[in-house]
Amino acid sequence: MMGGLCSQLAALLLLLLLPSPAHGAEESQDQPVFSRIIGGQDAQEGIWPWQVSVQQYDNKREYYHICGGSLISAQWVVSAAHCFDLSTPVSAYRMNLGEHQLSNPSPTRISSPVRRIVRHPDYNENTGVADVALVQLTEPVAFTDTIRPVSLPGPSTQFPAGEKCWVTGWGLIGWGCKDTLPPPQTLQELRVPLVDSSTCRDHFRDCKRPIQEDMLCAGSEVNRDSCKGDSGGPLVCPRNGNFILAGLVSWGIKCTQSTPVPPGVYVRVPVYVNWIQNVTGGTGLSIVSPAVLSAGTTPPGPLSNGLICSCLALALLLAGLLLPAL
Ligand code: ARG
Repeated sequence: MMGGLCSQLAALLLLLLLPSPAHGAEESQDQPVFSRIIGGQDAQEGIWPWQVSVQQYDNKREYYHICGGSLISAQWVVSAAHCFDLSTPVSAYRMNLGEHQLSNPSPTRISSPVRRIVRHPDYNENTGVADVALVQLTEPVAFTDTIRPVSLPGPSTQFPAGEKCWVTGWGLIGWGCKDTLPPPQTLQELRVPLVDSSTCRDHFRDCKRPIQEDMLCAGSEVNRDSCKGDSGGPLVCPRNGNFILAGLVSWGIKCTQSTPVPPGVYVRVPVYVNWIQNVTGGTGLSIVSPAVLSAGTTPPGPLSNGLICSCLALALLLAGLLLPAL
């Protein structure tokens, strides 16, 4: 706790002093839209270190990308249930971690075999409900700069409409989602605003698949959406200077020709956090829950050790930075 406060303050100070490392994607907002993810852009290597490429073996193509996923601990990946076929043996799947350009694999990426795939027991192909699966790697992986798990929301974490979140993947691109990502197949990222449920329900009113409680909608602009091949992959939203996993790419349809364009539909991760904890045993998961924070922590007293220690750290840092300048 003490050390935590110290390092937080030191980090804050460093952040204030260092030139801000602009998140590459942040700048894309006003630039013209190119036909990627759809409408996304190349990600910077290692910026989405939890991104997984779910691959499946086929005699002709060997292992090939079928879906996205997110690393949530050293031995577990979360993805979409519809990515996994119950009749395919687990040995036919691989989880590729630390990938950036699929046709130009980095020497530091890991291609992990799979021990177990758990599809949610309520998954329903027709309604799309509970489109979530957990994949256990055969061995825990060591985290690196380019391989790192994403934090999960708590069961009651809210994601307000209008919030700007990010979806990433190696899925199909271009108008109508018809084209494969050209070599070197660089991971694509796209910023999408969350859409409130009633607006989303209206979009899909005339469709066979209604929007359910466990679905989250995002992005409803022409040429800006996730596509086939992005499924299972992360929709992350900013929280406390980091990102948390708000959704999993699930489905979307061009069900009406009318504008506005229907949003992409994602699995609402808070709904499944308890299930994720039960199946994985919870070890190594990072759950960022506002409810847990306010219940479990009390602010330190005015002259607590933590405060003294942080003041000292600040003074030392300032001295270190200012002295060489004098
Ligand atoms: N079901 C697709 C897949 O298997 C993902 C579709 C996402 N569609 C969308 N319009 N956002 O990869």
